[in-house]
Amino acid sequence: RAAPVIAIDGPSASGKGTVAARVAAALGFAYLDSGALYRLTALAAQRAGVAWGDEAGVAAIAAGLDVVFTGEDIRLAGVLVGDAIRTEEISAGASKVAALPAVREALLFRQRAFNTAPGLVGDGRDMGSVVFPRAPLKVFLTATAEARAERRYKQLIEKGFSANLPDLLSDLQQRDARDSQRSVAPLRQEADARLLDTTHLTIEQAVKQVLDWFAEAS
Ligand code: C5P
Repeated sequence: RAAPVIAIDGPSASGKGTVAARVAAALGFAYLDSGALYRLTALAAQRAGVAWGDEAGVAAIAAGLDVVFTGEDIRLAGVLVGDAIRTEEISAGASKVAALPAVREALLFRQRAFNTAPGLVGDGRDMGSVVFPRAPLKVFLTATAEARAERRYKQLIEKGFSANLPDLLSDLQQRDARDSQRSVAPLRQEADARLLDTTHLTIEQAVKQVLDWFAEAS
């Protein structure tokens, strides 16, 4: 029997990454930040001078990504990536390369390889629909666009970046539209996914809800 997977999908800046990482820590499970793989692909393409719209070129970059995840640290070609994949520019690039079917295909097996004992928490857009369709628990984690833009704003300011709330909101809405309307693996709530709206929840409350659902499901 394969190790259990908790699939957490949802829009940008919904807090799913933080919730997923804490659920994984609480259960002693591995954690897959699948968005980081799309972000790394966008960054590596940019560094190699490959345009984000060049499907074959970007897919080759995705297939050859030399990436090592160690806890919170991500190394690309041996070098710590840090916040270089969290900029607004790379966020937009990630959502562009993620719309290319050959890129998604190239990243599929790499993502499935994270599913080791005792279990995995994966967060992204298609964890429950494509990558881990047999996951015993699927969660669609969301919040209003305004709440998400505010959270993203606070994060950026805390990290010392400059940020503008109306711009963040409109970037987020564009990214939501691109992620939901694309033909491959669009962002949507699966019929068998539980809805977790975190607009009025703390991180702790959201983590507890996921852990409670997982206890029920297993
Ligand atoms: O989750 P995060 O915001 O880091 O993801 C960055 C981008 O990567 C998203 O906007 C989305 O287009 C893409 N993505 C995806 N499928 C995933 C995870 C992320 O298409 N499983």
